Amino acid sequence: MKKLFAMLIVAALMLSGIAALAEKGTLTMCTNVAFPPYEFYDENGQPTGIDVQIAKAICAKLGYELEIVDIEFAQCIPGVQSGKYDFSAAGMTVTEERKQMVQFTDTYATGIQSIIAPEAATFESIDDIVEANGTVKIGVQMATTGDLYSTWDYEDEGKGTVDRYANGAAAVQALLAGKVDCVVIDNEPAKNFIAQNEGLKILDTAYAVEDYAMAFGKDSAIYADFNAALAELIADGTVQGIIDEFIPAE
Ligand code: ARG
Repeated sequence: MKKLFAMLIVAALMLSGIAALAEKGTLTMCTNVAFPPYEFYDENGQPTGIDVQIAKAICAKLGYELEIVDIEFAQCIPGVQSGKYDFSAAGMTVTEERKQMVQFTDTYATGIQSIIAPEAATFESIDDIVEANGTVKIGVQMATTGDLYSTWDYEDEGKGTVDRYANGAAAVQALLAGKVDCVVIDNEPAKNFIAQNEGLKILDTAYAVEDYAMAFGKDSAIYADFNAALAELIADGTVQGIIDEFIPAE
């Protein structure tokens, strides 16, 4: 009996060993797939976009399969910190606070926090709304830099409220429904959202300029190889080619 038990344990250990080996072939990327042109679903329901294609190119170079997991943006940093996902590619802005929690790859794109408003709006900045009404309602995607800046500059200052949505598309729907005065979001998604929905515009005044990078857990074993592959794909023009494919020149 004892012997049988021991054999079962050995068999179980061997099986889990095999499973661990098999898993080495796949890297899991978490992102929030409501952020065109960085990540969105194509007509076949497959995730695509700048981040997805760059991640695919890196995995192909390194010989890994890529698995993409669509979660809330707010869960991306905790998800890589805990090791639940290998990395996050989510149009993620590099900030000092986030650097305390994750390690970032080289930056591969630039973003601008911009402001979406109803087409008929006469204001030119968030401050104009505050001036006219004494208060402002700002829609954001939860836990993004747009959320952080709006919270610091307006909510914490008693100048308005910040409504936090699960993703950018939901924030834009709230704006269309008149629930918020404006939405603070990255410029390329903003352009996509105003192209997809009637009656919206982007204000001329930008809010902040930022760098995007992919995030890894601090003790990630594949970070160094992954970042080296990204650096090569930046140097040989592959990354720019992918960006140009999704962001047509103006
Ligand atoms: N760049 C902003 C940030 O890092 C927003 C990113 C949102 N990304 C997404 N896939 N929904 O906070």
